[in-house]
Amino acid sequence: MVNYKDLGLVNTREMFKRAVAGGYAIPAFNFNTMEQMQAIVMAAVETKSPVIMQVSKGARNYANATILRYMAEGAVAYAKELGCEHPEIVLHLDHGDSFELCKDCIDMGFSSVMIDGSSLPYEENIALAKKVVDYAHQFDVTVEAELGVLAGVEDEVVAAESHYTKPEEVIDFATRTGCDSLAISIGTSHGAHKFTPEQCTLVNGVLVPPPLAFDVLHEIEKKLPGFPIVLHGSSSVPMDEVNTINQFGGHLEAAIGIPEEQLREASKSAVCKINIDSDSRLAMTAAIRKHLAEHPGDFDPRQYLKPARENMKKMYIHKIVNVLGSDGKLAIK
Ligand code: G3H
Ligand code: 13P
Ligand code: ZN
Repeated sequence: MVNYKDLGLVNTREMFKRAVAGGYAIPAFNFNTMEQMQAIVMAAVETKSPVIMQVSKGARNYANATILRYMAEGAVAYAKELGCEHPEIVLHLDHGDSFELCKDCIDMGFSSVMIDGSSLPYEENIALAKKVVDYAHQFDVTVEAELGVLAGVEDEVVAAESHYTKPEEVIDFATRTGCDSLAISIGTSHGAHKFTPEQCTLVNGVLVPPPLAFDVLHEIEKKLPGFPIVLHGSSSVPMDEVNTINQFGGHLEAAIGIPEEQLREASKSAVCKINIDSDSRLAMTAAIRKHLAEHPGDFDPRQYLKPARENMKKMYIHKIVNVLGSDGKLAIK
C-alpha cells in the first residue's frame, strides 16, 4: 500500500476549485509511453500548469501497472529537475470499470480515480460510484463519476449512441455518490472519428461539426453551482496532423474532432477537466511517419521518437495556453 502523497502527487480537489473559480480547465492527458510522459511534464513545467496524467485500463495492460506508477513518481522528480519546485501532478485512473480496479490503483499510489458506471442502470451507477468514493475518501483520493453516455467506445464500455446527461438527475447523483467531479455527455465522443461528414456543415472548405450541447451544460451548472464538470472525448483532431499522416503513407479518412473554440468556451464554465488522448496519438504518429519517410535508413528508435516527443510537447503546450487557459495557474510558482 502506497499513498500518493508519498510520491509527491496531488489529488484534484484544490486545482478544480481554482479552475472553476478562475474560468479555465486542467488538462488531462492520457499516457502509455515514456515519451508521452516526458512531453506532458515538459509542457506542464514550461507553462507552469497543473496537469492530470491519466492511465486507462488498456494503458495499464500495455505498460504494466507497476511501471506506470513509478513513471508517475518519476514525473514529479523530473518536473523538479526541470526547475519546477512545486509541481501539481495528478495520477488519475481513466474509465475505471470496477471497484476492484479503482481500489488497486488507489492502493498503488493513484491520487484520483474515475469510476465509469455510465453504461449501468442509474441506481447501479450510483451504488458503484458510492462504493468507490467511500473507499477512496479514506485516503483523500478524489473520484470522478459519469452520468450520461458518450457515443462510441469508452474502453470496454460500449454505447451505440450518445445519451446526453439529464440535468434533472445531477443533484441526486452527485449528492448520493459523494463524487468529487462529474463527467457529462454533451456531444463529445472518443477517438479521431467523432462525427461523420454527413453530420457536418461545409464552411470555407472545412467540415464543421454540430455544436456541443451548451444548453445542457448550462442547465447542469445551474443545478450544481461550482461543482467540477469533466469533458471526455475532447480531442480536436488537427487537420495538419491528419494530413501529415496521410501524406506519409497513412490512411485516415473523415477524421473529425471538437473545434477548439468550443473547448475554449467550455473551459470558461464549470468544465474544469478536459480529456485529450487522440490528439497525442496523432501528433506522435504524424511525426514518426514523416521522420521515417524522410530518413528511410534510420532504425534507432531515438531518431524518430525524439521528433515525436517534440511534436507532442508542442501540442500539449498549445492546448494548455491557447485552449484550456491553465498556464501560470500553479498554486506556488
Ligand atoms: O477514453 C479512452 C482513452 O482514450 C483511453 O483509450 O483504452 O485505448 O487506452 P485506451
Ligand atoms: P479523445 O479520444 O477525444 O482524445 O478523448 C480522450 C478521453 O476522453 C480519455 O478519457
Ligand atoms: Zn474518456
